[in-house]
Amino acid sequence: MSATLLLGGLAGGYGRLTVFRDVSLSVDAGATIGILGANGAGKTTLLRTVCGLLPSHAGSVRLGDVDLAPMAAWQRTRAGLALVPEGRQVIAGLSVGENLELSRASTRLSQTDYVARLAQVFALFPRLAERLDQPSGSLSGGEQQMLAIGRALMLGPQVLMLDEPTQGLAPVVVRQVLEALQSLRGRYTMIVIEQNRVFLDALVDRTCTMQGGKLTV
Ligand SMILES: Nc1ncnc2c1ncn2[C@@H]1O[C@H](COP(=O)(O)OP(=O)(O)OP(=O)(O)O)[C@@H](O)[C@H]1O
Ligand SMILES: [Mg+2]
Repeated sequence: MSATLLLGGLAGGYGRLTVFRDVSLSVDAGATIGILGANGAGKTTLLRTVCGLLPSHAGSVRLGDVDLAPMAAWQRTRAGLALVPEGRQVIAGLSVGENLELSRASTRLSQTDYVARLAQVFALFPRLAERLDQPSGSLSGGEQQMLAIGRALMLGPQVLMLDEPTQGLAPVVVRQVLEALQSLRGRYTMIVIEQNRVFLDALVDRTCTMQGGKLTV
């Protein structure tokens, strides 16, 4: 399931520091868009603001007919937003299975739905099923990225946002992540931040560029 994500005149930053401003973007239901941009351009800050992890300074965020602006991050998660954060941020001391189970608290899933979603994640990344009891901190970088994506999919999102999913990965693993994300195209509305233009070109419908806090659509 997916829905249109609409940003209107969005601005955000840290305290009184505005990092990005006047960002307007429409991502159609099931479309995949890429965001390129130099280090420090404000890409991560933008995604964190969309998710409600940072307060916006101005503007609107809508998902289909739903106004997300008054919602806290956990409510936006329930409304359908999922973020695969920069640097993966899996919980190192927890096993693969426990990391995936964390999504359960955010979504109030029944046991049947939980098992069905787990099966979807394992179909996408069989490696995770093989490593279910392994502490996540001992996974390879690629396996951690698979877990971070799997954890987001466990939320049953409409919008999947990925912040530099190929960062620090070997080319062979980049290809695996690319193939997995290509298989998700159309099922979710996706925003992918990347420095790897070749990766983006193989995945997205169109690419925007973030520069100096402005998004060029
Ligand atoms: N917690 C923070 N407090 C204050 N300023 C911050 C904070 N986090 C990031 N910034 C600043 O906001 C600006 C944008 O950072 P951001 O992480 O959004 O960039 P980015 O485009 O994601 O960069 P990268 O490609 O390196 O991930 C930078 O100038 C950065 O120093
Ligand atoms: Mg970033």
